Amino acid sequence: MVIAIDGPSGAGKSTVARAVAAALGLRYLDTGAMYRCVALASLRRTTPAAELAAGVQIELGERVLLDGEDVTEAIRAPEVSARASQVAADPDVRRELTGAQRRLLEHGDWVAEGRDIGTVVAPQAEVKVYLTAREDERARRRAVELGLDAEAVLASQRLRDARDETREQAPLRPADGAIVIDTSGLTPEQVVARIVALAAGR
Ligand code: DC
Repeated sequence: MVIAIDGPSGAGKSTVARAVAAALGLRYLDTGAMYRCVALASLRRTTPAAELAAGVQIELGERVLLDGEDVTEAIRAPEVSARASQVAADPDVRRELTGAQRRLLEHGDWVAEGRDIGTVVAPQAEVKVYLTAREDERARRRAVELGLDAEAVLASQRLRDARDETREQAPLRPADGAIVIDTSGLTPEQVVARIVALAAGR
């Protein structure tokens, strides 16, 4: 089984996706971490991002390894977030990472989190969820998580949202058949329970 969880940043995807995977004993795939790894590599090197996407080795798990180096914290830096949204607009980068994600999802049962899992990577997923939340609520959550000013987070979030939603390749939108959940007034536990119930129904 594949459970696809898509949506904008700050909608609660990571917390919820990890918890759903733990509750159901499924593996967890954070596709955003893959874009972040390519972004970090491209901030450090002049090699075109598409070449990096094809060449770097990314290992996902408790820790995220980029060519063997632990980059779990480094890929969360604001400059990496900004760069990730740029490299994610590159069709050649997307082709590489989409292929790698599909190969992973072919084996075993997964909760996969991203922007295009239900639309592009795994449209055959048994459960497709699109998590969203009010813009100010998403910015507030990210600001708390990162220890940054909410206004600054809101400004950069708007830029990234616009880029993610308007890019030609795999723009962020709910997949056909996706259940849209607005998490603004909900606790993570409530959202997890809802998705677990959806999975049980399939
Ligand atoms: O979910 P995140 O913030 O870690 O994602 C980092 C960036 O990668 C973000 O700009 C969206 C992009 N992304 C994407 O385009 N497709 C995915 N499947 C996952 C992330």
